[in-house]
Amino acid sequence: MSFVVAIDGPAGTGKGTVTKLIAKEMGFVNIDTGAMYRCIALECLKEGIQNIEEKAKIIEIAKKIDIKIEHNNEQQEFFLNGENVSTQIRSKEVTQIVSQISSIPEVREIMVNLQRQMAESKDVIMEGRDITTVVFPNADVKIYLDADVEERAKRRFKENEEKGIKMSYKETLEAVKQRDYNDMHKPVGALKIAEDAIVIDTTRLTIEEVVQAVKKVIKK
Ligand code: DC
Repeated sequence: MSFVVAIDGPAGTGKGTVTKLIAKEMGFVNIDTGAMYRCIALECLKEGIQNIEEKAKIIEIAKKIDIKIEHNNEQQEFFLNGENVSTQIRSKEVTQIVSQISSIPEVREIMVNLQRQMAESKDVIMEGRDITTVVFPNADVKIYLDADVEERAKRRFKENEEKGIKMSYKETLEAVKQRDYNDMHKPVGALKIAEDAIVIDTTRLTIEEVVQAVKKVIKK
């Protein structure tokens, strides 16, 4: 039986960075499920799908898509139909449509099955929005990372500045609020706090402090 650490939370809580560091320190395989939805969004863009209403085509893509994750020097590399798309899946265009794509129930069903397969016979730390509630409701460890929306917008604003993405703080805050709304109002797989999840508020914590807090929960 594999050991599963499931982590959920809204965008900007540091889930990605924290799970990467913990995976390295504690020897887990790290799986970023948001990146899997991003792969489908990228493939939709490549196939020229302009409209989210083209649901049947999007579901066909999700059925056929070949997503592989390779772990090189603690980095997760994403391969879409054989091509390394680790950078492309972070583009603005993908970010714009991924939330809608991930709200299609049939797409989620396919991804949830794939995520469960990925954890077979491996000790994993998996992060996303529905890992503690849908993918692994019986995970060995269930954690919900949270932070005030203003703090998360500040973090995203700083990241954007570093990447040279021009967006005012106000616009960033609105975008984060919109993403929270979308994530929390999906018909299936909506972001919510599992009853038995340990909630860690990261608003006033450094990444290292969050890592220590999560490790403490896992060790317990
Ligand atoms: O964590 P992220 O920003 O890379 O996630 C991309 C999108 O996928 C985001 O809109 C939320 C969605 N997502 C989801 O619906 N379920 C997951 N398990 C992970 C991400």
